[in-house]
Amino acid sequence: MAGRIPAQFIDELLNRVDIVDLINSRVPLKKAGKEYQACCPFHDEKTPSFTVSRQKQFYHCFGCGAHGTAIGFLMEYENAGFIDAVEELAASQGLEVPREGRDQQGPDYRPLYELLDNSARFYQWQLRKHPDSARAVNYLKKRGLSGEIAAEYGIGFAPRGWRNLIEQFGRNAEELKKLNTCGMTSNRDEGGEPYDRFRDRIMFPIRNHRGHTIGFGGRILGDGKPKYLNSPETPIFHKGQELYGLFEARKSLRNINRLMVVEGYMDVVALAQFNIRYAVATLGTATTAEHLQHIFRTTQEVIFCFDGDRAGRDAGWKALETALPLMKDGREARFLFLPDDEDPDTLIRKIGTEAFEERITNATPLSSFLFTKLEEEVNKETPEGLAQLAEQAKPLLQKLPNGLLRKMMFQKLEQIVGVDLTEPPPPAQTPSKRRPPPTERKFLGTMPPIRRAVALLLTHPEFAQLSDLPNHWRQLSLPGISLLKELLEILRMQPNLKPAALLERWRGREEEKHLKRLSAQMFPIQQEGLATEFIATLKSLDIRQDELEMEQLLEKAQSKGLSSDEKQRLSELLSKKAHAPSAGRAVDDE
Ligand code: UTP
Ligand code: MN
Repeated sequence: MAGRIPAQFIDELLNRVDIVDLINSRVPLKKAGKEYQACCPFHDEKTPSFTVSRQKQFYHCFGCGAHGTAIGFLMEYENAGFIDAVEELAASQGLEVPREGRDQQGPDYRPLYELLDNSARFYQWQLRKHPDSARAVNYLKKRGLSGEIAAEYGIGFAPRGWRNLIEQFGRNAEELKKLNTCGMTSNRDEGGEPYDRFRDRIMFPIRNHRGHTIGFGGRILGDGKPKYLNSPETPIFHKGQELYGLFEARKSLRNINRLMVVEGYMDVVALAQFNIRYAVATLGTATTAEHLQHIFRTTQEVIFCFDGDRAGRDAGWKALETALPLMKDGREARFLFLPDDEDPDTLIRKIGTEAFEERITNATPLSSFLFTKLEEEVNKETPEGLAQLAEQAKPLLQKLPNGLLRKMMFQKLEQIVGVDLTEPPPPAQTPSKRRPPPTERKFLGTMPPIRRAVALLLTHPEFAQLSDLPNHWRQLSLPGISLLKELLEILRMQPNLKPAALLERWRGREEEKHLKRLSAQMFPIQQEGLATEFIATLKSLDIRQDELEMEQLLEKAQSKGLSSDEKQRLSELLSKKAHAPSAGRAVDDE
């Protein structure tokens, strides 16, 4: 784990991100007055009670009480951790997440990224300058690759020889060790002389979401085995998570409406050359749930593209099984099977962009793929066959998350088999997902004053800038007073903090739940004159403080007697009291 993310960065991030856009790209929203609405993604409902406020930068569900910021939304919706959610938002804004005090916090991978970025540049350079590079250039030309696209994807050439990279970047023991850690060298046996892993190959750098090189795929020029050599698993390269081409897709497209998963490096690159910029490849592995999580964080629609042969169909079915649990409403998965002996690279060169995109548009929806395949495997003319079909379909459909798609798939199954199937109850929600029942809405007037002041400030940070705010309350020693002081202090330092950013400051702290609840209770309140209410609330706390002081002075007057200063103060307080209303209700919070 790297260091803490500075609070200022979170502020900045939440200032840039618009929660409406963020949520709308995952849960389509409809405008309703000043706010935006949809059916809540966190509980089952038919009429929308999920509301997103652009002004407040909060989402809020009046049905289940779900409430939070852009970061909170990503964490809930994508089951992501805080760090992942922040990384994700930062990437969408082209920002790098800074870290504090990383020394104490575990390994720093920056030198490894730097080494691989340099290696990628070295290979690119060799493609242009190495005496033997004509062979590589010719190979790429023969495959129809343009120089532009080769440059965009950073394609390079690892020349023949055992020590090219080592001579460049492994000149001492420490450097050699780094090369080895990144998987760029091999050893014949333990303790033996290391040598370059990639030799006489076309090099495809694999980049992470920030564009750093984390590994390579190297293709042999012509025939030979292995055709592709990939970087091994290293601290910065995990095959099961990375998608080749995702960084480049994000870079060249402003909006990614869909992503298409293909099998090979060359497929991604060829499609890009033909202006289909949304293809990504898994790295010689099947599509994993992690891959799909990445994809669905970027876009709502995924197309799996496979060869039309048996192996391709099997791979497609595997992808379907992996995708099922992730098919939340709004997400879409489709399957494109290519003709025999074609892959996207060969097909697009044959039929061109338009015809290829038409195939993509007409790709088989997940639901059809699933049912067609199951129907093919049974005899639908007999009850036995249909029963078999139902038995096979059920466990698959049960993998779907709660929602409309799940319901409709069960309905479809009933239609096919012609029998009412009682849908098994949806899986119990995990405790962390279960929402407390909606809290009885507490209106400001019924809130104890300290809580009311905190709630008002939390939702209207600009109140901290009001001039002549009452101050005596600061001496009260009651629960909540230090929280109120801290809020004011933060807002004095950073007057432009938005409510969402203010709430994020308390993530992971004891008071987080309390503040989140207040923020949720305040969500529906849109009342005029809240600034006056805020001042009046502080004022009532001031009076409470004055009364306490007065009581103490009166007590002391009876026991020990008062100094002249104290007498003076007491008479001030008494005359003030005569002119002001009492604080009235008890002010003790909680
Ligand atoms: P393919 O064998 O389908 O090759 O492997 P391809 O992508 O069409 O490559 P070209 O067109 O012959 O150059 C698909 C993917 O499987 C992985 C690679 O990621 C490759 O892009 N693979 C394949 C390997 O990792 N190693 C191999 O030896 C072969
Ligand atoms: Mn190919």
